[in-house]
Amino acid sequence: MTWFMVALVVVVAAAGLLRWRRPAWYWLTFGASLAMLRVLVRYGSVMDACGLTVPPSRWRLAVARATNRPVPGPRAPRILRIRPTRTGLVLRLGLRPGQDAFDVAASCDRLRHSFAMYGVTSRELRSGVVEVRMTGYDVLKRVQMPASTDAGPMRVPVALREDGSVHYRDYRAVPHALTLGATESGKSVYQRNLVAGLAPLDVALVGIDCKQGVELFPLARRFSALADNPDAAADLLDALVAHMEDVYQLIRAEQRITADVPDAEIAADIWSLPAKLRPVPVVVLVDEVAELALYASKEEEKRRDRIITALARLAQLGRAAGIYLEICGQRFGSELGKGITMLRAQLTGRTAHRVNDESSANMAFGDIAPDAVLAAIQIPTDMPGVAITGDSTGGWARIRAPHTSLRQAVNTCNRHANRTPDLPALAPFRPVLGIPAPADAPAVESIPATA
Ligand SMILES: Nc1ncnc2c1ncn2[C@@H]1O[C@H](COP(=O)(O)OP(=O)(O)OP(=O)(O)O)[C@@H](O)[C@H]1O
Ligand SMILES: [Mg+2]
Repeated sequence: MTWFMVALVVVVAAAGLLRWRRPAWYWLTFGASLAMLRVLVRYGSVMDACGLTVPPSRWRLAVARATNRPVPGPRAPRILRIRPTRTGLVLRLGLRPGQDAFDVAASCDRLRHSFAMYGVTSRELRSGVVEVRMTGYDVLKRVQMPASTDAGPMRVPVALREDGSVHYRDYRAVPHALTLGATESGKSVYQRNLVAGLAPLDVALVGIDCKQGVELFPLARRFSALADNPDAAADLLDALVAHMEDVYQLIRAEQRITADVPDAEIAADIWSLPAKLRPVPVVVLVDEVAELALYASKEEEKRRDRIITALARLAQLGRAAGIYLEICGQRFGSELGKGITMLRAQLTGRTAHRVNDESSANMAFGDIAPDAVLAAIQIPTDMPGVAITGDSTGGWARIRAPHTSLRQAVNTCNRHANRTPDLPALAPFRPVLGIPAPADAPAVESIPATA
């Protein structure tokens, strides 16, 4: 008996310790089964208390009366499936007549408290069926991506969503995207994750990093072209426009439509070309975009107009030529001059990290999901990397990318350096590899060493 008591105390202590220090491991060992038991045992009473039951139907009452049985009680939505996942539980509910998906969505917070879960969200799968996703712990506190994901040819897992599912950046569904956020909010880490995710794919990476290249140049071995100042960026973007025109010429040459060509084989973008002819898709990553739109002299104004025009052309026409834009910046609004709002309207995918004011959040979501604006302002400063992501369907979710260090990203890029394609149009911008020669005298002073 004493041995049994000792073992029990050890197990309870281990569970408590895990729950405190390693919630993900706790969930996998104890949490999932306990939560499942809790949901199944309390289900009826919780649904009743949350107002998610309907009175018994007339025929049930009639049958009860006819057979002299007790009057049946109210009925909760049917559990069609309950499935534990790596981070929580997924419940599929069949609604009763008279209920709608909004009833469940409106009760999510009550369900969260009643089932003692960390988060509960719901969505309609089809008419009459609602999926309730519950998370057992704060999955965004320490992001761990699942080992196997549903990645595709131009689809990379980039972050974890609040409900425990993986957030993908799917370039074929959403060709261009804008990422905003105040300084130190996690934009560059998000972009670094994207580069690490794209590195193993057959894609050319092009980078424009006006912070003198500190974020993207360490990853240079996987980049086909890089620019670290607005002058180089202007030439690089012009070269990309020329590349896009070459790709369109290729598609035109391949179309050769005759009466016997089946509809499915008429090419209108690079993906409908035969694989052996298909040009490699290009992802253009721009960090600190506002630097490209600022000017102090007439000369710089001309350069700025050239850059914004080239970006707008790539955003309007690039998708079918397999050119995708990924733009990051602290703000991207009309105060940066003409052409900015037109360019922004082409960037379908929107992600906002922590922002300091409503107008910055409005630049990301004001025109697509107004309630996401509030969520973006509420991101706390001690959670860098947490972001709100939305798309033109009006939906949005809270996400956080894993904390990939620059060293990890460099290793990934170096491992896949042999995949870096050579694009002839971009050859002058191919980064020069090797250790840069040290400056004769340091241009900045170091902090004096303390004894
Ligand atoms: N997903 C994350 N998880 C944990 N920490 C993060 C995450 N993203 C960013 N951070 C932390 O926040 C710091 C700042 O991130 P980052 O450099 O990406 O910010 P930024 O938005 O690019 O800032 P700036 O506008 O000044 O370039 C990082 O050094 C890192 O410590
Ligand atoms: Mg940055």
